[in-house]
Amino acid sequence: MEALTGEEVAKLHQDYVMQSWHKQGGKAMPVKEAKGIYLWDYDGNKYADMSSLLVCSNLGHELPEIVDAITEQAHKMCFMSPAYASEPKSRLAKMLVDVAGPDFYQRVFFTNGGADSNENAIKMARMVTGRSKIFSCYRSYHGSTLGASFASGDWRRFATEAGGEAPSFVHFMNPNMYEDGFDRGVDDEKVTKLYLKRLEDQLIYENPYNVAAILMESIVGANGVILPPKGYMEGVRALCDKYGILMICDEVMAGFGRTGKMFAWQNFDLKPDMFTFAKGVTCGYVPLGGVVVSKKISDYFTDHVLQCGLTYSGHTLACAAGVAAVSYYLDHDVCAHVKKMEGVLKPFLESMVEKHKCVGEARCIGLFAALTIVKNKATRELMAPYHASNSVMPTIMAELKKKGFLTFGRETNINICPPLIITEEELNEQLPKLDEVLTWVDETYCG
Ligand SMILES: Cc1ncc(COP(=O)(O)O)c(C=O)c1O
Repeated sequence: MEALTGEEVAKLHQDYVMQSWHKQGGKAMPVKEAKGIYLWDYDGNKYADMSSLLVCSNLGHELPEIVDAITEQAHKMCFMSPAYASEPKSRLAKMLVDVAGPDFYQRVFFTNGGADSNENAIKMARMVTGRSKIFSCYRSYHGSTLGASFASGDWRRFATEAGGEAPSFVHFMNPNMYEDGFDRGVDDEKVTKLYLKRLEDQLIYENPYNVAAILMESIVGANGVILPPKGYMEGVRALCDKYGILMICDEVMAGFGRTGKMFAWQNFDLKPDMFTFAKGVTCGYVPLGGVVVSKKISDYFTDHVLQCGLTYSGHTLACAAGVAAVSYYLDHDVCAHVKKMEGVLKPFLESMVEKHKCVGEARCIGLFAALTIVKNKATRELMAPYHASNSVMPTIMAELKKKGFLTFGRETNINICPPLIITEEELNEQLPKLDEVLTWVDETYCG
């Protein structure tokens, strides 16, 4: 088949592809090639992937170890039904349990991505507890399939709810220290106490003994890397224990080394009963997700049928990619590298708060970072109020793209989440571009 030109690729996409989260018929940049931390368009323009393509390509693009594992597996057996055991699936399940902690965790249910990992965790929580309600945060995203969309807290669930709200999904407000008017490192104890009190009150008003699970992103990602105040996550765990509620951590974005730990919940003094994963497990080379469950939950299903199933559960090619990716994280101590790079990224972002009128707060853990962009630092007036229809943020993202710095932002945040294999030299080459754009934002929007 003759290769298409960039223009042809873009035109076919424009005419025939349903584009997520957009009105249809718009243009998408045709990408010809991706390698390491870079992408190239058909005109030869090079872009640094400073968001790991939706915080997914943790190990960068075209990593030979993953590509070779997929190729090798493809020559042996591309697909095997979930009813049968296959070497990649068996291996990957054990690897994930070993990394999570085999003293507490036992099994993995494999899915195709993030949304269905959350949906299946919710189903399991209901089966195990016999309770119906699922608590989740307003400031969160858990996927766009029906159930995951109801569990999500941000505006992306509105269209789903327009068809009628799903019963038994309850949202609560999770802390966002900067936007709530508090100072990190000063007010943590006060904020933790306040938000845990509100959550417990809400649980009591909803009848805590009918709450199956509290589902939370270990660290809220797409809504702006919202780091919880000290002690908050441990406090949620304590509330779960008090009322017999299961705690589910969503590691879809924050997992696999992103925060400098293999799983982001490992930054806290707690163990979730289940945690969900996707993205970084294969870095998107082949879609894969799943749920890691505790021994206690696993034990429940030795006597009860697990009423969950997907044709592609434990897909052979995907699990082969997963084995290669997880081996790479461990063999190359990617977490140690991430901690080292945090030492470059975090001080730089903090210096942007000092330097720029438009930067209200910088949050960074590992290579998971975001800047809150403001109009007025003194009043903390956000550049883009929540769910604003005429936000200037896309224009700011376009300025970054013009400089070859490709990332995404939601609401009033710029997310900076490069592939975890980025080097200090590459960071030092890219970050000044962000500084230049922030100067332009100061001059253009901050009077
Ligand atoms: C925290 C979190 N959970 C779930 C999802 C949904 O994952 P998927 O798009 O693979 O369904 C996402 C996607 O960005 C996410 O960030």
